[in-house]
Amino acid sequence: MPITMPHARLRSPTRWTHPALACFAALMLLALPSAAVAQGDPDHTACSPDGTLCFALAIEGGIATYRVDREGAPVIVPSKLGFQLHGGGKWQNGMELGEATRASHDETWEQPWGENRLVRDRYNEMRVPIVEQGRAQRVIDLVVRVFDGGVGFRYEFPDQPQLADVKIDEELTEFNFAPGGDAGPEAWWIPGGEWNRYEYLYHHTPANQVGMAHSPITFRRQDGLHISIHEAALSDYSAFWLQRIDGLHFRTFLAPSSQGSKVHRAAPFATPWRTITVATDAPGLYAASDILLNLNEPNRLGDVGWAKPQKYVGIWWAMHLDKWSWNDGPKHGATTQHTLDYIDFAAAHGFDSVLVEGWNKGWWSESGRNFQFAEAYPDFDMDRVTAYAKKRGVEIMGHHETAGNAGLYERQLDEALDYYERHGIHSVKTGYVADAGGILREDPDGTEQWEYHDGQFMARHHVLVVEAAARRHIAVDAHEPIKDTGLRRTYPNMMTREGARGFEYMAWGEPPNPPSHEPTLLFTRMLSGPFDLTPGIVSLEGRDGRPLPNTLARQLADYVVIYSPLQMAADLPENYLKRPDALAFIEQVPVDWEQTRVLEGQIGEYAVVARQRRGGADWWVGGVTDDHARKVAIDLSFLPADRPYVAEIWRDGPGGGIDGDRFAMVRETRRINGGDSLPIEMMAGGGFALSLRPAN
Ligand code: NOJ
Ligand code: CA
Repeated sequence: MPITMPHARLRSPTRWTHPALACFAALMLLALPSAAVAQGDPDHTACSPDGTLCFALAIEGGIATYRVDREGAPVIVPSKLGFQLHGGGKWQNGMELGEATRASHDETWEQPWGENRLVRDRYNEMRVPIVEQGRAQRVIDLVVRVFDGGVGFRYEFPDQPQLADVKIDEELTEFNFAPGGDAGPEAWWIPGGEWNRYEYLYHHTPANQVGMAHSPITFRRQDGLHISIHEAALSDYSAFWLQRIDGLHFRTFLAPSSQGSKVHRAAPFATPWRTITVATDAPGLYAASDILLNLNEPNRLGDVGWAKPQKYVGIWWAMHLDKWSWNDGPKHGATTQHTLDYIDFAAAHGFDSVLVEGWNKGWWSESGRNFQFAEAYPDFDMDRVTAYAKKRGVEIMGHHETAGNAGLYERQLDEALDYYERHGIHSVKTGYVADAGGILREDPDGTEQWEYHDGQFMARHHVLVVEAAARRHIAVDAHEPIKDTGLRRTYPNMMTREGARGFEYMAWGEPPNPPSHEPTLLFTRMLSGPFDLTPGIVSLEGRDGRPLPNTLARQLADYVVIYSPLQMAADLPENYLKRPDALAFIEQVPVDWEQTRVLEGQIGEYAVVARQRRGGADWWVGGVTDDHARKVAIDLSFLPADRPYVAEIWRDGPGGGIDGDRFAMVRETRRINGGDSLPIEMMAGGGFALSLRPAN
């Protein structure tokens, strides 16, 4: 990415901002409240291709600020930009804006796999040098891309002698929200920087009661506007947490580093994009979140046909139930025989792969100091298992739990991945189970350092791992990861991740995930990318037989609602054999999609999602509800009008729901026409899933 040299452009002062002009424009707009024009200096304003969304830069009291308006009304009111630089003080005061340069872009690109095969990348771009006056004259460019559905902006540090070795103590980017109604916005968020990383149930509070939050964070205003704040293309920088300063004023707080300064880079470089996605309803927010992919760089890996969407089973749930163990001993899960049995089950039911956790030596040592990533326990024969899998047409999915010892993993990485490559393994689940701040690495002299899961070190680590994996045609599913910022576009073998409260909490979490969890996730965490939820617990019970607060049909709905290109059927094989109707659905449901439509939904309440199989004519629809029963009328206008379809439906049955018979499920077939509406009832804690195939 070429970084421009702003100094030359700065010598044309005629186009610089006049604060008086900005003030005048703002005053004019007070008189014209519904005008779809930018409220700011037109020389430093960029609007979306459809003109609804505008981003305006200004200087107020010597500080660079930005605002975002939608149809002429404020979304983000003036919010400061800046940095606290190590040894260099604040880069914030005494600023002037240089001349803006502009570009427009409209391109449709194809994903190798995803929720949508085609993605349209259409925006107007503005680049403005922000120049510090006086002694230092440090310049940073702000680059803004305004899409119809949101805004991305980033700082680009050009090559300049007075700011060459950049140490960032804090980024001072603000997000100050316009209230959008007397009551002020509501927010759905999880705490940032807390010990359990991203594995929290979402808080739903007034926006002015948010503390320190992870992104993506979703806001809904009283006037119905939905806003998500997040970041895109986080690869060599510290992730931000969103810290509420007061009222509706928020600011970035970068995840800490053992090095003091939170980011250390050599100029030229660019920060990740700071994103503001805006829509008038929750389904619109999901659709607009493709700006995150668009703000990432195109595929660097070339043909990634080897990074295959797949459904997998695995030696996993039995450990979370405490029936088997990861470590060897009398309860060892990953034995040769257990794995051969799972391979047989996968082959018989059309699953693509078998995850094996706990096959390698070292479980579980403090901070993962004993893990051996290329050495099997004596009761696990990798050669035999992989040869048998190959014979049965099934793949093995590898596992690398690090317990947060990313340093040890990096030291063994080549050997560990070579070992998998030799055994024909094409995907690996990684894991970083450690409290926030408990990532261990070593300096070259052996000194131990402790990092955060989302600091600069780990941002780089995850890229290092996917690059090393890509060289061996291995796809990655990271648990306890850094948040998703759309890097899968650049590295399509970064296929899925955890980074939310998944189904392991259904086994032992206190409390287990409530029915509102998925309708919340869809409009929060899922805006950022795929999630390895690990659904499909058809026994509806966790550890020691504790009942899950879900219906059977709901377990199936999750396969459509929560997107992951690696999707697990997480329950024990014997439990699937007891529920053949549910198993039939899980066997059939696709994992790769041509296109996706969120048909309706409200955050934390319910959602209905339709997805068309990639390269196919069949559609799949999933619905989830919170602990309220709900009737929906599925609007089938996405199908060609009056074309006959056969709908195969798995829905909550009479007397079902979490307060009734959770297993009550009706499986039925109906003929319907495109354009019809299909009424379905979801019971409390329930849902439905259905397929739509053209008749004949
Ligand atoms: C936590 C992961 O989320 C889970 O899926 C895995 O089984 C354990 N760590 C052990 O690695
Ligand atoms: Ca986890």
